[in-house]
Parts: sequence; structure tokens; C-alpha cells
Amino acid sequence: MARTTFLALLPLISLIPYLVTAANPLGSSFQAAVLINNTIYVHGGEGVSGTISNLYSLDTSQPWSTATPPWTDLTPNAGTFTVPQTSFHAMWPAADGKSFYIWGGGNDYYITQTQSDFAQYNVIAGTWSLPSAISGMPVQKRDLSVVWSSSGVAYLWGGLGDMYTGYTTSNSTKYIFPEMTTFDTTKLIWNVFNVTNTTGQVPPPRVAHTATMLSNGQMVIIGGLIGTQLNETSIYLQYAPMTNIPVFDTYTTTWTLHNATGNPPVMRRYGSAVLSSDGLSIIICCGGTQSSKIQLNDVAVLDSRTWAWTQPAISGTLPTPRLGHSAVLANGQIIVLFDATRFLARRRVPRLRGLRCSRWFISSRQYPINHPLPRSLANRRQPISPNV
Ligand SMILES: *[C@@H]1O[C@H](CO)[C@@H](O)[C@H](O)[C@H]1NC(C)=O
Ligand SMILES: *[C@@H]1O[C@H](CO)[C@@H](O)[C@H](O)[C@H]1NC(C)=O
Ligand SMILES: *[C@@H]1O[C@H](CO)[C@@H](O)[C@H](O)[C@H]1NC(C)=O
Ligand SMILES: *[C@@H]1O[C@H](CO)[C@@H](O)[C@H](O)[C@H]1NC(C)=O
Ligand SMILES: *[C@@H]1O[C@H](CO)[C@@H](O)[C@H](O)[C@H]1NC(C)=O
Ligand SMILES: *[C@@H]1O[C@H](CO)[C@@H](O)[C@H](O)[C@H]1NC(C)=O
Repeated sequence: MARTTFLALLPLISLIPYLVTAANPLGSSFQAAVLINNTIYVHGGEGVSGTISNLYSLDTSQPWSTATPPWTDLTPNAGTFTVPQTSFHAMWPAADGKSFYIWGGGNDYYITQTQSDFAQYNVIAGTWSLPSAISGMPVQKRDLSVVWSSSGVAYLWGGLGDMYTGYTTSNSTKYIFPEMTTFDTTKLIWNVFNVTNTTGQVPPPRVAHTATMLSNGQMVIIGGLIGTQLNETSIYLQYAPMTNIPVFDTYTTTWTLHNATGNPPVMRRYGSAVLSSDGLSIIICCGGTQSSKIQLNDVAVLDSRTWAWTQPAISGTLPTPRLGHSAVLANGQIIVLFDATRFLARRRVPRLRGLRCSRWFISSRQYPINHPLPRSLANRRQPISPNV
């Protein structure tokens, strides 16, 4: 159905009761999101007054307006279960499409949570559980990336440990994790790959990057901050060049470093990336730049057949620049949700955008609600910043 038809239907849709009574999440940043069939699930993040455990869903199979997204608040489904209160974490679906997992991240309260924040939500039953498959599970980390294969294996890479993840009690200690971790959602087995760097192609670890699984089983890492562990307590972080593209082949478990050409976009942290419907190009959007005051709202495409960047012309109303948002491709549209546009100004603006990628048309309406953070949270968890 064409977008114009969506818009034309709006006056009618607004009369449908479920839209009128839809939940209106206050929004968050550094949350995690996943698409299962046609429904987006969004969990956790930095909320209005600290790290949250909220769970929302959005059914994209019906026409809807970005001005009144028909959110469902699934938070009450927790019942007596203690849902991990976490942000900067990973989320991935199970192979059977009936549940998703969350893992890792940290929280403002310096609380070490059960099983490194490993939990499972059954989207059909609407119930949370603590997975019993924890043998070999890695140490909790934040700012990592995750992709998953069609056979249901999740690949988790990058990330660091600090006081918020329970790695240390010192606010000056950080450890960056070099290894690749997998979780098989069918066999329920954790595994750690420590790939030997004999080829010189194994990338140094990153944080605040994106990872995208191509249809050919290659995991593509873009942007973020490259980390070096200086000693037991200190790491050195610097922006990754957008031409420097590490690729992990999940079939051969080997890394290859690609030098991207073309028209590369500016370096960024906490951006988003989605796989295009062609299965081989990656569409990135937004993120934070080297200037802490400047966030992006650009769109760029990396074609893995040529490893060349292009920056398509965009029409329509651009979303406001942002970092710490989520992006999901559903029904030929990139849905960009939530953000930390004003994180550094200690304000949060929940937003949601529809980006129709086939025509590079951004249609949006915003519903800004500014929530100043309480002073007591002045020392709350910050996004990771580079040394240079
Ligand atoms: C998603 O689709 C798969 C495959 O058709 C199906 O097995 C699964 O039950 C669906 N999940 C939900 C939540 O409807
Ligand atoms: C770390 O803790 C020390 C001692 O409590 C405090 O003086 C300092 O401001 C803290 N640093 C940060 C970055 O929170
Ligand atoms: C991976 O290899 C590095 C370097 O040899 C080592 O320091 C680290 O402990 C290894 N990690 C795991 C999980 O085996
Ligand atoms: C692997 O070797 C290359 C070339 O020496 C180096 O640039 C890279 O940082 C190494 N990777 C790791 C994880 O140490
Ligand atoms: C670790 O490296 C940092 C940065 O160079 C330095 O400030 C710190 O003193 C070092 N710590 C130790 C224990 O050597
Ligand atoms: C990428 O560029 C570096 C430095 O110019 C070079 O050493 C490396 O061989 C190149 N890699 C590829 C895959 O072309």
C-alpha cells in the first residue's frame, strides 16, 4: 500500500478506538528493539528518571500514523517477574519467532542484576522467564552489538565492562572485551570465539558501533569507537573511520577488514543500521559526532558488493538529529524510534519516524514532550565518549 494511501486514511484511522486508547510511552534512549514478524518490541533504556525495564510493542502490519503510533504497553505483563532494568544492552529473537532474549547492558543504580541481565520474553504467551542456559555465559557488558543468523544463532561483539555493568566498583575502571560470543537459541548453548590474529585482520574491539547481518552470513561492523586496553583499568577510545569496515564471516568464523570507498559519511557513535531489502546493502542513519553538541540525521548506504558508500538525496521532513535511538526495517520502511537528542542537555524527547526507503521519503510528525531530569540523577550513566 502506498504511503499516500496511508495518509489519506488517517482521518478514519483516528476514529478507531484502539488508536485513541494506545499507550503513549514517555520514550527512552539507549534502549533495545527487535522486530518479530510484523511487531516491533522495545525494551529498557534510559528513561525519564533513570534506567527502565519497560516493554512496548508496535504492530506495523496495519496502517498507522507516526503522529499517533499504536503502542501497546506490555510492561504490566511482568507480573511478579523482575524484568532486567538495563540500557545499552542487546536484544535478539529466538529461531522459532515466538520469543526474544535480552542480555547485558547496565543501569544507573550500580546493581548487578541476575544472570548478567539475561532474560527471555515469550511474545505469544506474554510471559518473561530466566533462561536456564547460562553455562559458559560471558561477563555482562554494555555498548555491544548483536546480529543473528536465520538458524537462530546470535553473535555478540564489542562492548565494555564498568561500574554500571557490575564489572568493577571503581568509577574509573573500564575493560573492553575483544572476543566474539555466540548464543544458539535452538541448542541453548553459549560459546566464545577467541579468533587468533594470524591474518592481522581481526579488528580491535569497539563500542557504540552497529552490526548488521547480510543475507550471505557476513556480520558487518560500522562506526562507533575503537578501543585499546591501556592497562588493567584504563581504555583509550577513538572514533572509527567510516572507511574501516570489519566483517565477520559466520560460516568460516574469520574476520576480514574492508576499506570502504565512495562517499563515506561522517564518523559517529550510537547511530543505527538496518539491512536493506536487497539483503546486501546497509542503510545507516543518525548518531553522535566528534563534537558532543552535534548529532546527525543523515542517511548513507554501504553496498557490500562493492564496499562503496553513497549518500542518497532525501526529501520530506528530516527527523531531528539524534543518537541512542533504535531503527527497524518493517514493511519497506525504516522506523526510527526514540533517541537521546538532548541527552547531553539532560533532556529527553521521545520521537518516532517513518522513513520510506524505497523512495527516500521521510514522513513524520513529532510529538515532543520535554522531561528535565531530576537533579538527583546528575551522576547517572552517560554514553561512552571518546578520548579524542
Ligand atoms: C512468527 O512467524 C513464524 C513463522 O510463520 C511463526 O512460527 C511464529 O509463531 C510467529 N510468531 C508470532 C509471535 O506470531
Ligand atoms: C568517581 O568517584 C570519585 C570519588 O567518589 C568522585 O570524586 C568522582 O567525581 C567520580 N568520578 C566520576 C566520573 O563520576
Ligand atoms: C582471548 O585471547 C586474549 C589474548 O590471547 C586473552 O587475553 C583473553 O583472555 C582471551 N579470552 C578468552 C575469553 O579466552
Ligand atoms: C590484528 O593485527 C592487526 C595488524 O597487526 C592490528 O592492526 C589489529 O589491531 C590486531 N587486532 C587485534 C584484536 O589485536
Ligand atoms: C593506566 O593508564 C592510565 C592512562 O595512561 C594511567 O592514567 C593510569 O595511571 C594507569 N594505571 C595503572 C595502574 O598503571
Ligand atoms: C586496506 O588499507 C590498508 C592500508 O592502506 C591496507 O594495508 C590493507 O591491505 C587494505 N585492505 C584491503 C582489504 O584492501
